[in-house]
Amino acid sequence: MFDHKPVMVAEVLNALKPRPGGRYADGTIGGAGHAAIILAATSPTGWLFGCDRDGDAVEAARARLAEFAGRFEIRRGNFAELTDWVPAAGCDGVLLDLGVSSRQLDCPGRGFSFQHEGPLDMRMDTRQSLKAADLVNGASAGELAKIFGELGGERDALRLANAMVRDREKHKFETTRQLAELIEKISPRRGKKTHPATQVFQSLRIAVNDEIGSLKRGLDAAVKLLKPGGRLAVITFHSLEDRVVKDFGRARSRDYTFAGEVDVPELREPRVPELKWVTRKATRPGTAELAENPRSRSAQLRVMERI
Ligand SMILES: C[S@@+](CC[C@H](N)C(=O)[O-])C[C@H]1O[C@@H](n2cnc3c(N)ncnc32)[C@H](O)[C@@H]1O
Repeated sequence: MFDHKPVMVAEVLNALKPRPGGRYADGTIGGAGHAAIILAATSPTGWLFGCDRDGDAVEAARARLAEFAGRFEIRRGNFAELTDWVPAAGCDGVLLDLGVSSRQLDCPGRGFSFQHEGPLDMRMDTRQSLKAADLVNGASAGELAKIFGELGGERDALRLANAMVRDREKHKFETTRQLAELIEKISPRRGKKTHPATQVFQSLRIAVNDEIGSLKRGLDAAVKLLKPGGRLAVITFHSLEDRVVKDFGRARSRDYTFAGEVDVPELREPRVPELKWVTRKATRPGTAELAENPRSRSAQLRVMERI
């Protein structure tokens, strides 16, 4: 059973407004929670393209959507590659619900969680060779500190990275608990609400799966898939991801570009904007959902429309 509870369902439906005959793409199909709701709302003639990097998710999604057979196509792969097989300008809506699913987190063999003993793996796509253990046992202290600090916002990044590099000289890190125990020793909980390994594990996952790079390429792909008037809904669970989505929306909704990092009015070049914000501010889950589904706590939804 793929027991992932989809987040912000009402808000996603309100953003994408799926309708019979419409064509939609779900780039993170997971357990097909959102996908099933889109297919139900588009009955009897709507169509859904779906993908996920995780082979188990693809199988679970196909099984979950059996009742909608003939109205969807699901392929395994990165959403950044959706343009390889989904027709350009053919979709009325695209959904990206980022991060990992509860099923991935709860499966000890996948190595995503410090709560379970498992191999230090963390690959969403198990065909990829790089695993978390390769980074923890092979990257320099500087590289590790950068991952923990920049991708996890970990304050003790350098201290933890140095401790890992010292420790791995004695024995390689192989399991999630082994790594979590070292973190607990170096950076104990001391009244914090979250476990001290939270940030390190999250940052390793983001690095192993190149989540920020995939997101930037995926947003680019999503715009190419949308028809004029089609909508892009993105749910993020991390401030770094949300910043990427916000910056992307801002840049694509401007009527000018500028070279370099700084917007100097004299150096602006006019251009036709591709997107407009539907909700400029991020939408958060309502109190009922927050109380019922703890995973929704950090969810933020941003919605843009193709012009
Ligand atoms: C939060 S879950 C999605 C849950 C889904 N919306 C549902 O209702 O069941 C995120 C899923 O996105 C997948 N994923 C993350 N990044 C991806 C990427 N770049 N390309 C394809 N799938 C990705 C993960 O493997 C995971 O299954």
